[in-house]
Amino acid sequence: QVDFTRGAARSPGGKPIIALPSTADDGTISRIVPFLKPGAGVVTSRGDVHYVVTEYGTAYLHAKTIRERAMALIQIAHPRFRPWLVAEAKTRRLVYADQIEMRIQSPVYPEQLERWVDLRDGSRAFMRPLKMTDEARLREMFYRLSDESIHYRFFNMIKSMPHEKLQTFLHVDYEADMALVVLTSAGQDAEIVAIAHYSRDPRTNFADASFLVRDDMQGKGIGTALMHTLVESARANGVGGFTADVLMGNHGMLRVFHKHGYAVQSTLQDGAYRLRIPFTKKRIRGRRAQAK
Ligand SMILES: CC(C)(COP(=O)(O)OP(=O)(O)OC[C@H]1O[C@@H](n2cnc3c(N)ncnc32)[C@H](O)[C@@H]1OP(=O)(O)O)[C@@H](O)C(=O)NCCC(=O)NCCS
Repeated sequence: QVDFTRGAARSPGGKPIIALPSTADDGTISRIVPFLKPGAGVVTSRGDVHYVVTEYGTAYLHAKTIRERAMALIQIAHPRFRPWLVAEAKTRRLVYADQIEMRIQSPVYPEQLERWVDLRDGSRAFMRPLKMTDEARLREMFYRLSDESIHYRFFNMIKSMPHEKLQTFLHVDYEADMALVVLTSAGQDAEIVAIAHYSRDPRTNFADASFLVRDDMQGKGIGTALMHTLVESARANGVGGFTADVLMGNHGMLRVFHKHGYAVQSTLQDGAYRLRIPFTKKRIRGRRAQAK
């Protein structure tokens, strides 16, 4: 195995991939484990491993920190074992002590929402649901935002994005809470350039939606594409519509909501529009009609 792994890594365009089922013994044992038993043979060392693949996705581990490796591997473990793996990783201080807890049935990554987006400048970007392992990339995106974008998104001036705050973004169950990100490519070194999120209010079955595109990538159609896929996902998960608070001067955001096709109800209060967008009424050439 070690010859194969090193050989693949050094050959031009080569990718060493270790593929394994996430469980063994009829699903009773996780093959992703928090520690090895004493005396267990280690064939491929940390420095050589690049990709590990299970039926739950791909973990890219090369040159990552221990914390990133642990979270990437937990994300491709069988969902039933993920809460246990997070708890064990915390005990061994491999991840943050306040690392978000996972439910017993932790969510399955909705791969069907992965797609390429054609941008207005002729280039392409890759859209996919947010992963728990995106923390570092999200932080990098945040520190490249202008004050204006931060003000439009958060309604006040946030100067830092520490781990605790990022956790609130990363906690999605892909149903009642969904987050999509757009990246410069589908590769491991890709940068996150946009994020959109919805969070369903169980009392109304409407979800609050928010969008954020890195300044140098605005105006290329990313916000529009995110809206399209976010609505698709929300509808598939039974959400009745979106709500959003948009500051008065934020014409780009208002345009994204208004041009999508659903009728937008809005009320203006304290310099911000409160939007309500039921997924039942479509606006066609200025008229309203029932959605199909
Ligand atoms: C608002 C935002 C999400 C829009 O994303 P985007 O990728 O720039 O949007 P798109 O490129 O898809 O363009 C959206 C539409 O708005 C229009 N638009 C953009 N800026 C505009 C402006 N200042 N005035 C009028 N229209 C504008 C575009 O022309 C486009 O309309 P069109 O398709 O008819 O040409 C993005 O600009 C952003 O992240 N802003 C900062 C954070 C923010 O405001 N978040 C919203 C919080 S709810």
